[in-house]
Amino acid sequence: MSADCSPFATAAGGPFAGRVDPLWRLHSSQGIGMPATVYVLNGPNLNLLGFREPTIYGNDTLDDIAGMLEDRARELGLEVDMRQSNHEGHLVDWLHEAHFAGAKAVILNAAAFTHTSIAILDAIKSIKVPVIEVHISDPLMREPFRHISYVEMGAVATVKGMGARGYVVALEKAAEL
Ligand code: DQA
Repeated sequence: MSADCSPFATAAGGPFAGRVDPLWRLHSSQGIGMPATVYVLNGPNLNLLGFREPTIYGNDTLDDIAGMLEDRARELGLEVDMRQSNHEGHLVDWLHEAHFAGAKAVILNAAAFTHTSIAILDAIKSIKVPVIEVHISDPLMREPFRHISYVEMGAVATVKGMGARGYVVALEKAAEL
């Protein structure tokens, strides 16, 4: 799993500036005989899972979750690319990257950006890759400021309130897409 690393440039002047490549699926991880890749993108403070508010988020670390996902992905014939960043722009860039890499799906826990980020919603709506929203807790059962989800407005499905296991449920949903 990579944390806080800069993805390759897709901004103005980058390799895909101003165009959508119609062959994006052909020269991608979706090639014949290659396992399809599911990106699992995690937002701010999720690097502290296991330590952070365990009564809300449980004791599993993000590495524990990555391990669960890798085990299930193997059974499902998928590959998982798990990342975490505390920076909104990284999540936007990684959503673009998932598209151009021909990912099968993105599982996205945008954490607090869920409730604030129109940039992430726009990125989800800009790409062809289906995005499945995931939350460890159920934001609707919490403070009112967590009740709006911009991610949900673009996502094909949401899994919430199931603890760390929700990531595996989201991967099973991704396998069916
Ligand atoms: C969260 C819920 C968000 O409201 C919160 O800001 C998080 C984690 C979850 O997984 O339950 O950081 O996305």
